[in-house]
Amino acid sequence: MILMNDFKREDETLIQSQIAAVERVFRSGWYILGHEVKAFEEEWSEWVGASETVGVANGMDALEIGLRAIGIRPGDEVITTPITAFATVLAILRTGAHPVLADIDPETAILDPKSVERCLSPKTKAIMVVHLYGQAGPLKELSALCSKGNIQLIEDCAQAHGAKVAGKSVGTWGAFAGWSFYPTKNLGCIGDGGALTTETPQIAEAARKLRNYGQSDRYQHPVLGMNSRLDELQAAILRERLKYLTEWTNRRRMLAITYTSEIRNPSVFVLPLPTDKDEHVHHLFVVSTSRREALQSHLKHCGIESLCHYPIPVHHQDPCKTVRIDPNGLPNSERHANECLSLPIYPGLTDSEVSQVIDAMNRWNR
Ligand SMILES: Cc1ncc(COP(=O)(O)O)c(C=O)c1O
Repeated sequence: MILMNDFKREDETLIQSQIAAVERVFRSGWYILGHEVKAFEEEWSEWVGASETVGVANGMDALEIGLRAIGIRPGDEVITTPITAFATVLAILRTGAHPVLADIDPETAILDPKSVERCLSPKTKAIMVVHLYGQAGPLKELSALCSKGNIQLIEDCAQAHGAKVAGKSVGTWGAFAGWSFYPTKNLGCIGDGGALTTETPQIAEAARKLRNYGQSDRYQHPVLGMNSRLDELQAAILRERLKYLTEWTNRRRMLAITYTSEIRNPSVFVLPLPTDKDEHVHHLFVVSTSRREALQSHLKHCGIESLCHYPIPVHHQDPCKTVRIDPNGLPNSERHANECLSLPIYPGLTDSEVSQVIDAMNRWNR
């Protein structure tokens, strides 16, 4: 079976360096908020080009902590997309704020600034763009919208490690950005992990307190925080894996170019590549078709795994059925949720497997 991800395929040198990193932590005798987390935070800031990184337990916490650190309060509104991991919206809900859902651009499946504009209200305090599938969202347009209305821009970078717009990395455009290091992400650990990046020292300081029970100094708790710390073990592993991230991203880009130029099937729409290759890091490779179930079962029959990101838009999830949405509705999101299908794309995929996927895609429905 050609899988969506196969972690067992990884380079032996990398496996050995991660084992050595784990041993390093064991022998250090320091397991929480120590040297490895601090070193990873510095290395991640440098890699992204951000001023500050705060390591936390997972990507969802990074968003919740960041929202609280920038002052989002119960009753505030945060505009985002219905086509995302539920964690994006759950982070907003957990702060007591109200998510408001704008529609997506059908070409990219990312938040459409025109729809965002229709969702604005006096209660709008932030816009959270999700750089979905690894592609940077419309940062210039959304930044302009935010500066007109005294609204904060927030980036959900869980899928877009290393994407850049006009040479500037995602994660450096907004008040803060949330990153996930869930194992399947472009940079993943061997468990849960996350971080937020920001250009503002006060936000980083607030986030450092919030991740650690709201503690300022030992036993001093000026705010109600949470327990959301990145483990030393995960940080040590991330430091080793980070050394490979550029090479992995290049491989993902090559795979995406091959799929895009060679999948030729009139029944399938392939989400186009951006004109600037740096804008996309191809976390997922997504196509759409009105006969998704049939395509998925054909691929399975050919020994190819595929998944849907995401088959149920957020406003159809039980806890979100009453959230405010674009007054014009969310037709592009509805359609995308019904038609999208993700094909395997990960750095360890072999050229022969890529050819098998292309061949299966081109043989379907002929
Ligand atoms: C777009 C997006 N946001 C947030 C998250 C949450 O990250 P985590 O699973 O690390 O909490 C994910 C992960 O699935 C994601 O894909």
